[in-house]
Amino acid sequence: MIHVTKTYLPERESLQKYIDQIYASGWLTNNGALVQQLENELKEFLNVEYLILTVNGTCALQLAYKLLGLKGEIITTPFTFVATVSSLVWEGLDPVFADIDENTLNMDPANIGEKISDKTTAILPVHVFGNPCDVQTIQQIAGNHGLKVVYDAAHAFDVHLGSRNISEFGDIAAYSFHSTKIFHTIEGGAVVVRSKELYDKALLMRNFGIPGYDRITELGVNFKMNEFQAAMGLGVLHDYRQIAERRKQVSIHYTNAFISQKNLKLQHIPENVQHNYAYFPVIFSDETKLLLTKEKLNEQGIYPRRYFYPSLNELPYLKGKKQHTPVAESISRRILCLPLYYDLETAVQNKIVDIVNKYA
Ligand SMILES: Cc1ncc(COP(=O)(O)O)c(C=O)c1O
Repeated sequence: MIHVTKTYLPERESLQKYIDQIYASGWLTNNGALVQQLENELKEFLNVEYLILTVNGTCALQLAYKLLGLKGEIITTPFTFVATVSSLVWEGLDPVFADIDENTLNMDPANIGEKISDKTTAILPVHVFGNPCDVQTIQQIAGNHGLKVVYDAAHAFDVHLGSRNISEFGDIAAYSFHSTKIFHTIEGGAVVVRSKELYDKALLMRNFGIPGYDRITELGVNFKMNEFQAAMGLGVLHDYRQIAERRKQVSIHYTNAFISQKNLKLQHIPENVQHNYAYFPVIFSDETKLLLTKEKLNEQGIYPRRYFYPSLNELPYLKGKKQHTPVAESISRRILCLPLYYDLETAVQNKIVDIVNKYA
């Protein structure tokens, strides 16, 4: 079976040295040596000063909201994985949806202004499928209204905008390192913050508010990553450049195959972006064509995913008046992410291309 992605597993021997280290120390969690090593390597890789690993990406978002003391309404996108929105609701925050741009698939900054109320405390954009948001305009809007900006960077590992890593934008960038992601720690995540003060606070909040023996100084819960997760992360990080290069080739092959297909639209990635080739979404002209194509692919054992469907303004647990975001609703019904991973065989990819081109 061919799924939308396939988790990268490093060679066993390369993991073995980390596992041996865990056995030698007997230390499995609580800010262990491997977690610290991975944090240091990621800081260098992402060119940031303060990064804290967490047990998963959803907890990274929750930690970000708590660190910034967010309250009331948060302006976000309805076109994202459900965790962006469910984490807000879980933390007692109210998501207010700004519709997306139909080309970039990111929140359209032109729609943010009308959503700001006296209850708004932050903007939570997502770099959808690794495509950077319009960070400058968003920062300007946030600055004018005294709002915080948290980027959900779950898809945007190793993405650059001009010469800058995408982690460098916003008050906080939150990552997911779930095993479906291009860089993963089995389950995992991280927050990137901008000051020593927030960094120290995050360390405490991640660990029950406990700074050391017999002291509790802050409200905290348990968001800690364990040593086995970090071992996987170190193994994957060391192979990352190879994985990225291979994904790029697979992605270029799709782009070339669909470039002249008039019935399909591809996500617009601006030219000054160094992309990470994390996903390959294709947008059909209508939902019927998408469903037929999906059925034909499924018949061949190929399972693309409807990322992201349904549009999250339609979630059943949202309170208040129903919010409408027509662009996101329309795109959600018509978008399919095709299989993309480091060792996707060209023959299989060609089969996918043929079916998509035939039924689009
Ligand atoms: C955009 C987005 N935000 C948040 C998450 C949540 O991350 P995790 O699964 O690591 O909790 C994911 C992925 O799963 C995601 O794709």
